[in-house]
Amino acid sequence: MPETVLVTGGAGFIGSHTCVELLAHGYEVVVVDNHVNSAPHALDRIAKTAGRPLAASYQVDVRDRQALSRVFAAHRVDAVIHFAAHKAVGESVALPVEYYDTNVAGTCALLAVMHEHGVHRLVFSSSCSVYGDADSVPLTEHSPVAPTNPYAHTKLMCERVLEDVCAHLAEMKVLALRYFNPVGAHPSGLLGEDPQGVPNNLMPYVAQVAVGRRERLSVFGDDYATADGTGVRDYIHVMDVAEGHRVAVEHLDDRAGFQVFNLGTGTGTSVLQLVAAFGEASGRPIPYQVVDRRPGDVAALVADAGAVAAAWNWTTTRDLTAMCRDAWRFQQLNPHGYAR
Ligand code: NAD
Ligand code: WQD
Repeated sequence: MPETVLVTGGAGFIGSHTCVELLAHGYEVVVVDNHVNSAPHALDRIAKTAGRPLAASYQVDVRDRQALSRVFAAHRVDAVIHFAAHKAVGESVALPVEYYDTNVAGTCALLAVMHEHGVHRLVFSSSCSVYGDADSVPLTEHSPVAPTNPYAHTKLMCERVLEDVCAHLAEMKVLALRYFNPVGAHPSGLLGEDPQGVPNNLMPYVAQVAVGRRERLSVFGDDYATADGTGVRDYIHVMDVAEGHRVAVEHLDDRAGFQVFNLGTGTGTSVLQLVAAFGEASGRPIPYQVVDRRPGDVAALVADAGAVAAAWNWTTTRDLTAMCRDAWRFQQLNPHGYAR
C-alpha cells in the first residue's frame, strides 16, 4: 500500500512543488488549503506536472477542527506536512493577531485532530527567520534564536509547542525544517511562485523586472558588512526544498520525538550577485537603484547544512544558475502568474 501524506498549504509555492515530488515517488497526496494565498488552479498544475492526480483536495481552513477532522476520517493518513501559514514579515507586524491565530492556533488545531485520528508523524515548515540578526554565519541548529518580528515568533512558538507535545506523547515524531530562502520554480515552467500584488521577496521582484512588469529593482542598502555591501542570503532551489521534504518523510521513523534541521545550501549570495546571475539567465540586464536599508533586514543569513547531510545522507544539488533559469522560465510562461 502506498503511504498517504496529507499536505496543508499544498496549493502554495513550496507545498505545490512538494506535492509533485511526493506524487513522483508514488505517495498518495491529500491537500488541505483555504486558498487565502494561492489559486485553486495551482492544484490542476500539480496533477499536470506530476502526470498523476492528487488523491483529494479540500478547501478547508486548518483552524476549522471539525472540517479538518472530516478530512482525516475520509483518508488513512500516514504522515502530515504542515505548510499552511501566513509568511510575510511586514504584514505580521501590522496583523499580529492574524499571524498568531493562523500559524500557532492553526498548528495546535492540526495537532489535536492528528491525535484524535491516531496520526503522529509530522514534518513542519519552520524558518531561518527564527535566528534573527545573527552575530556570525553559517548558522547551525544550535545557534542562538532571537526572532525580530511576529512572523518569526510564530514559527519559534510552533517549534516550542511541537517539542512539548513530543515530550508528552511518546509516539510523536516531528521534524521541523528551518528553510533559508526558497526560490526558483519547477523546471517545466508549469509551477512557480505566484505572489499577489507587489512581491516582498527579491527573486520574484527581479523576475517581474526582467519580464517588464516593473521598471527597476530597489536594492535595499549597500552599506552592510558584506563583500559588496548588499545583503547576503542562502538561496535554495524550491525543488531541493521539495526533495528535502520527501526525504524527511522517509526519515520520520529514524527516531521518536522532536528534531530540528536547517534546509539551506550553505552558500551565501549577495543581492548584486543574484541580480547579475538573473541577468545572465534571462539575457536581460536588470536595472536597479540602491535605496535605504529595509527596516528589520539583517546583513547575512547562511545555513550550515551539515546536520541534514549527516542525518539523511542528502544534500541540495541545484545552484544559483538553475534557480534563476527556472524562475525565469516560469515568469516567461506565466507573465501574470496563474490565472486566478
Ligand atoms: P504560500 O503562501 O505560497 O503557501 C502557504 C499556503 O497555505 C497557501 O496556499 C495558503 O492559501 C495556505 N494557507 C494559509 N493559511 C491557511 C489556513 N488557515 N488554512 C489552510 N490553508 C492555509 O507560502 P510558501 O512560501 O509556500 O510557504 C510555505 C510554508 O513555508 C509556510 O509555513 C512558510 O511560513 C514557510 N516558509 C516559507 C519560506 C519562504 O521564503 N517561502 C521560508 C521559510 C519558511
Ligand atoms: C533577500 C535580500 C533584501 C527585495 C524572507 C523572510 C524570511 C524567510 C525568507 C519565511 C535582502 C534584499 C529584497 C527587494 C532587495 N521567509 N531585497 N530588494 O528578507 O531574507 O527573508 O524570506 O520564513 O522569514 O524575511 O528575503 O527575498 O525579502 O530579501 O534589495 O525588492 O534581498 O534586503 O537582503 P529575506 P527577501
